[in-house]
Amino acid sequence: MAYDSSLSAQLYERALEVLPGGVSRNTVLRKPYPLYADFASGCRVTDVEGVERIDFANNMASLIHGHAHPAIVEAVSEQLKAGTAFTLATEVEIRFAEHLVGRNDGFDKVRFVNSGTEAIMGSLKAARAYTGRYKIAKVEGAYHGLYDYAEISQTADPSNWGSEANPAAVPVAYGTPPGVLVDVVVIPFNDPERAIAILDEHKGELACVLLDLMPHRVGLNPATSQYVSALRDWTGADGSLLVLDEVITFRSEYGGAQEWYDVSPDLTALGKAIGGGFPVGAIAGRADVMDVMNPLADTVLFPHSGTFSANPITMTAGLAAMEMFDRHAVDRVNSLARRAMVGIEEAIKEAGASASVTGGGSMFRVHMKDTAPTNYREAFVTPDESRRLHLLLDHLFDAGFLMINTCAATTSTAMGEEEVDALVEAMAEGFARIR
Ligand SMILES: Cc1ncc(COP(=O)(O)O)c(C=O)c1O
Repeated sequence: MAYDSSLSAQLYERALEVLPGGVSRNTVLRKPYPLYADFASGCRVTDVEGVERIDFANNMASLIHGHAHPAIVEAVSEQLKAGTAFTLATEVEIRFAEHLVGRNDGFDKVRFVNSGTEAIMGSLKAARAYTGRYKIAKVEGAYHGLYDYAEISQTADPSNWGSEANPAAVPVAYGTPPGVLVDVVVIPFNDPERAIAILDEHKGELACVLLDLMPHRVGLNPATSQYVSALRDWTGADGSLLVLDEVITFRSEYGGAQEWYDVSPDLTALGKAIGGGFPVGAIAGRADVMDVMNPLADTVLFPHSGTFSANPITMTAGLAAMEMFDRHAVDRVNSLARRAMVGIEEAIKEAGASASVTGGGSMFRVHMKDTAPTNYREAFVTPDESRRLHLLLDHLFDAGFLMINTCAATTSTAMGEEEVDALVEAMAEGFARIR
């Protein structure tokens, strides 16, 4: 690495000695080195060089109130003094479960875990335990965390993704057991005919169909109601479950993005925003399905535990954050995101840029494509698009904005129209520069 006297460069040199690639999560990697956060407040983060930026990344869509919200800081500080984790239950986990159950009629019961990955893994295992089947179906390209089964096809590329009518089950990690590839059925997004034709080949075999209603890596488009209904009807008739991954999209409406549709899933995996800034996951759903985890049953179909599950720090922060994320707050962050999308579309038009924007709720994503992609294959980033996307991301970064590394963004209650308009203006400059 060329010599660079910045504090971040020095920290990264140390990090390279002790962390693979110098990072603990690949999403923070930037070239030539990641930046290191010093402190943050509201929608602004200051790095160790003293540079302040407006945060549209919100820790990968997980912060709905920005950073260090006073009410969350106060509630958590009180709980810190009273203890952080016990081999005992706490009242706050009941209060938080009551709150979440009150947000969505389909949530009869809730089980807390520590990450979205764990929520997805637990949901798939619950579906298997309930149905007595072990295969699952998932959407090509959709990211659901690290569980072997849930990550299949997430990084498929033109060299291995197979035909559109029959997408291949492509592993992500080397060493994925070959049996996993046989037990995961991959379906295309927002293509009910092709998806149902594939599922029909597996009647009676699937524990569940796993669906993110607005999958980020698949292009960040809301699922069509025809698609969601087709999957709901098919799973209902088949005796398999519909599991929704609302780890990101729960922030889209008071009861999650599922409010956009006239269907109710059997299980919903939650995470990110519901932790109020702390690690979290949850499985919520129908009482009879959730009961596979019931330790009081004669036969416990899915024994489930976790040392830090429902720890009172996360529960306290999550409850405080979600209580403040009422319908009014949800509408406000959503309208800020809509304003950003409209502004970015205009900026693209004005600059004549080869770009487009997709999104819904409080999240949006910029693509370096003339036409907005509608599925994973269309959203797949070509080398030239990647080059231009990185130029845009670097420009936004230098202009004082933090984005998710796919050029996606989320709004938070800590920002207002001023911050959104500033981002749109910086985007417009970026589009004018990048050809
Ligand atoms: C849709 C979706 N599901 C699951 C996960 C996994 O969540 P976690 O990173 O908390 O394990 C993510 C994380 O980005 C996600 O975006």
